[in-house]
Amino acid sequence: MSTIPTIKLNHGGVEIPVIGYGLGTAHFKRGGDQTLDPAITTATQSALAVGFTHLDGAEAYGNEPELGIAISSTSLKIPRSSLFITTKLYRSISSPSEALATSLKKLGVDYVDLYLIHAPFWDEKEKGITIEQAWRELEGLYEKGLVKAIGVSNFGIEELERVRKVARVLPAVNQIEYHPYLQGPELKEYHKKHGIVTAVYGPLIPITKGAPGPLDSVIDELAKKYNKSTTQILLRWAIDDGNVVITTSSKEWRMKEALAVAEFKLDDEDMEKIRNVGKEKRHRVFWTKEIKE
Ligand SMILES: NC(=O)c1ccc[n+]([C@@H]2O[C@H](COP(=O)([O-])OP(=O)(O)OC[C@H]3O[C@@H](n4cnc5c(N)ncnc54)[C@H](OP(=O)(O)O)[C@@H]3O)[C@@H](O)[C@H]2O)c1
Repeated sequence: MSTIPTIKLNHGGVEIPVIGYGLGTAHFKRGGDQTLDPAITTATQSALAVGFTHLDGAEAYGNEPELGIAISSTSLKIPRSSLFITTKLYRSISSPSEALATSLKKLGVDYVDLYLIHAPFWDEKEKGITIEQAWRELEGLYEKGLVKAIGVSNFGIEELERVRKVARVLPAVNQIEYHPYLQGPELKEYHKKHGIVTAVYGPLIPITKGAPGPLDSVIDELAKKYNKSTTQILLRWAIDDGNVVITTSSKEWRMKEALAVAEFKLDDEDMEKIRNVGKEKRHRVFWTKEIKE
C-alpha cells in the first residue's frame, strides 16, 4: 500500500491527503431517506481497507450515518487520528452550530478535520443568514476546536472576496468542479494568492460524462505511454496540477487503481498537452443552474 502525500492547510498545520474518497454522486441518498443503505457502508469500508484515509462527506448526501458505521468498523481498527474526515453544511446553513452537532452525532466522531460550506447559492433572505455571517459562524466553530479546519465549496472569486473582507481566518480549502474541460485559471490564481488549497471533484469527467471529446486520443496515448489506466492519467493530472482530488467508485479494483496514482508522475510536457487540448472543450456537470459561465 503506497503512502498518500499530503498538503498542509493554512489552519493549525492540518495536513490533507491529496486523494479523497467521495460519499456523494453515486452514494447520494435522495429525498431524505432515513433507511440505512448497507451498500454505502460496504463500499466505504472497502475504500478504507484498500488505504483511503480521506473521506469526503456532506449533510446533503444523506449518508453520514453510513459513513459513521464504516469508520467505526472494529475489523478495520483505524484510529481516528489516521483519518481525515470532511463534511459540509448547506440545508442547515441558518444554524451552523446545530448542523455541526447533528453531523458529528451521525458520524459518531468528536470532530471533523474539515468543515465546508457546501455552496454559496442559498437565498440569504429566506435562510436569514448572509455568506459573511455564515463564515463568521464557521470561524467560531474552528476557534472552539470543534473542527480542525474550515473552508468552502463551489465559491467563485466574488463570494471568496465577500468572505475575505470579514474573515479572521481565510478558508483553508475551496472544493470545486475542476478537470481539463473545466479549467478556471483566475480562480486557481486567487486560491494561490490567498493560500487556499483547491480540492477538485469530477476529475474523471473527460472520460465519463464529458466524452467524446478532443482529449480522448491524448488520454489513451498517455495511458499506453505510462502503462496506466485512463482514470489514473486524469487523477494524476489533477494532483500534478497542485490540487487535492476527490474521486469515488463502487468497485474495489477502481479504488486500488485510484490510490496507485501516488506511484507515478506525469512529465511537464504531458501535463501541458492535457491542459492545452482540454481547453478546446468546456463541460460543467454540477451546479449548472447556479454557476453562470
Ligand atoms: N462539493 C460539491 O458540490 C461536489 C459535487 C460533486 C461531487 N463532489 C464530491 O466528489 C466526489 C467525486 O465526484 P465524482 O463522482 O464527480 O468523481 P469522479 O471521480 O469524476 O467520478 C467517479 C464516478 O465515475 C465512475 N468511473 C470511474 N472510472 C470510470 C471509467 N473509466 N469509465 C466510466 N466510469 C468511471 C465511477 O463509477 P464506478 O462506481 O463504476 O467505479 C464513479 O461513479 C463525490 O463523491 C463527492 O464526494 C462534491
